[in-house]
Amino acid sequence: MLSDQHIAILGVGNMGRALLGGLLRGHDVAPEQVRVTRRDTQALDALREEFPGLITTTDNAEAVQGADIVILAVKPQVVNEVIESVREHLAPSTLVISILAGVTTESLRESLGQDVPVVRAMPNTPALVDEGATAIAGGRYAEDIHVSRTRTIFEAVGSVEVLPERLMDAVTGLSGSGPAYVYMIIEALTDGGVKQGLPRPQAFRLAAQTVFGSAKLVLETGRHPAILRDEVTTPGGTAIAAVAELEHHGLRTMLINAVATATKRSAELSELNKS
Ligand SMILES: NC(=O)c1ccc[n+]([C@@H]2O[C@H](COP(=O)([O-])OP(=O)(O)OC[C@H]3O[C@@H](n4cnc5c(N)ncnc54)[C@H](OP(=O)(O)O)[C@@H]3O)[C@@H](O)[C@H]2O)c1
Repeated sequence: MLSDQHIAILGVGNMGRALLGGLLRGHDVAPEQVRVTRRDTQALDALREEFPGLITTTDNAEAVQGADIVILAVKPQVVNEVIESVREHLAPSTLVISILAGVTTESLRESLGQDVPVVRAMPNTPALVDEGATAIAGGRYAEDIHVSRTRTIFEAVGSVEVLPERLMDAVTGLSGSGPAYVYMIIEALTDGGVKQGLPRPQAFRLAAQTVFGSAKLVLETGRHPAILRDEVTTPGGTAIAAVAELEHHGLRTMLINAVATATKRSAELSELNKS
């Protein structure tokens, strides 16, 4: 799928770097196929040392020339200047993949000034450890092959869901912002353990592994979380006592409302990006 593709990653920061690592570890893509950019030349030197053969440059226009796929991984604040510098150098068939939060495929296509295929992706930070959850949506000129190629790229750093673009704010509210909610849960569980006398480092590891293992069990068995929960709640036991406490304080409603609030905020920020 990607072995004959030349890929340019513009803005090889946290997310761009995670994608680069995932792609090169996957063996389907050779370092010579990839060009990456950022302004910090020392950081680019370090990447070349880490991935011999990788092509690095501070010049975005140079990076996109001859590229089959261009991944926009800069911050939204600089995207206009980056697009300005590359748009004359893109071939009409170039697949442009954007991970910019809150920027639609249509506004990107308009800024690019040509009907290139654009696919939008919303990854999350666990992509840094190859456990990301990414949603992707094809724009007006994106065909199945473009969506498939984008899927392959993001599968290098986790799992991928293909969704209509109108649901991207909801994705931002759930998986995009979700790591923040889960970190709070891990932190609070750790404090719970410490309150009961556990040493903090052990409590922290127990809490994080409990979240990680429970998620793995859900994903690997495909079983409904409520069934898995029922299986650990012995009648009259400890877990059901705690579940009653969580229900009393509205844990589920709280999380449902948190996703709704983040979704709404994402929509507001997307509107601001347009103006
Ligand atoms: N982090 C997340 O959880 C997350 C989730 C989903 C989507 N996103 C999106 O991913 C994008 C990148 O986020 P990030 O967290 O990876 O940010 P980041 O670490 O700041 O990476 C952005 C990179 O862009 C480079 N850059 C800045 N100006 C440039 C230019 N003119 N030409 C080329 N490169 C340039 C910066 O390096 P230099 O300073 O060296 O140029 C930096 O390394 C954002 O648009 C964000 O909305 C992030």
